[in-house]
This record gives sequence, C-alpha cells and structure tokens, in this order.
Amino acid sequence: MGKSYPTVSEEYLKAVEKCRKKLRGLIAEKNCAPLMLRIAWHSAGTYDQNTKTGGPFGTMKHPGELAHGANAGLDIAVRLLEPIKEQFPILSYGDFYQLAGVVAVEVTGGPEVPFHPGREDKAEPPVEGRLPDATKGTDHLRDVFVKQMGLSDQDIVALSGGHTLVKL
Ligand code: HEM
Repeated sequence: MGKSYPTVSEEYLKAVEKCRKKLRGLIAEKNCAPLMLRIAWHSAGTYDQNTKTGGPFGTMKHPGELAHGANAGLDIAVRLLEPIKEQFPILSYGDFYQLAGVVAVEVTGGPEVPFHPGREDKAEPPVEGRLPDATKGTDHLRDVFVKQMGLSDQDIVALSGGHTLVKL
C-alpha cells in the first residue's frame, strides 16, 4: 500500500508557497541553511514508532525541548524563524519547521525534497534522549534510527549526508 498524506486547503497550500519564498530570503540573508536543516531534523528525529510519540509536530519552540542537551543552539533557529511564522498563522509549526529544512536543502543545491503538509501541532514536547549521541557507536545509531524511528541502515547513511552542509 502506498503512503497516504493528510489533505489541506487551497489557502493552506498557497501559504506554504508564499512561506517558501520568505524562507529562501531568510536563509540567503542570514546564511543559516545548516541551522534550518538541524531544527527540522531534531524536530523529526524524536519520533518513536513504538509509542507513536515525538516527531515533527511543532514542539521545538517549547523551552522544555529547547533545553534538551542535543538541541543546544536551536533557540537561535526558533528566534530567526518566528517573524516569518507570524506572517503565516494558518501553518502549523510542525509543517513550518519541516519546510525550513526542505528549503535549506534546496538553496544549498541539494535535491528537491517533496513537501507534504498537514502536521497537527502537539501540546507536549517529547521526552529527552531520543536523538542520537555522537559519542556512541553503531549499535546506538541502529537503536535510534532503526528500532526507534523505524528507518533503515541506508537511511542512516543518506540522512547523515546532511552534515555535508557544515564543517564539523
Ligand atoms: C547520525 C546521527 C547524528 C549525529 C550523532 C549527529 C551529531 C551532530 C553534532 C554533534 C553536531 C554539532 C552540533 C553543535 O554544533 O553543537 C551536528 C550538527 C549538525 N547536524 Fe547532525 N548528527 C546526526 C545526524 C544528522 C542528520 C540526520 C542531519 C540532517 C539530515 C544532521 C544535520 C546536522 C546539521 C545541518 C548540523 C550543523 C548545524 C549548524 O551548524 O548550525 N545531523 N550533528
């Protein structure tokens, strides 16, 4: 069976397209594509397939989630993005932060990432400790990406390509 995505209104889709343009402008002006990709990834990377909790549902703006050790510095992304978000109240934060990641990949010459809107924001941030820890090994990466998120070894390799945006 193919994937099914939520449907959103024409008005919502128009807002997505206008918002893309604003995000392109912000990322060019502030040269902040890596930070935008990181906020999208750290929002999504908390998803736990077993409990169906976490994930890219707009919780990153909560002080509790920003205080997670792995999210150090993402308060800057939230702050840079907020003036654009205010212009698009129709969009969920979940969609908005993921769109920022999609535009970051686009403007840095990456592939066009299909964007599927329709995430509904959750009230509560996920528990801490869901994102990968750079000091641990491959077993840990599989625990996070494969067991927790439901992805594959190939996905780990492809997604780690996100680091080509930065000098680590
Ligand atoms: C495989 C597991 C991963 C580990 C252990 C990891 C670890 C890290 C660490 C330690 C940093 C430096 C953070 C800092 O500056 O303090 C970083 C930055 C970054 N990561 Fe990852 N990461 C992982 C996966 C990913 C994925 C899947 C993506 C995106 C698809 C990604 C995108 C980025 C980006 C764009 C930055 C730079 C952000 C900036 O400079 O503002 N990472 N990562």
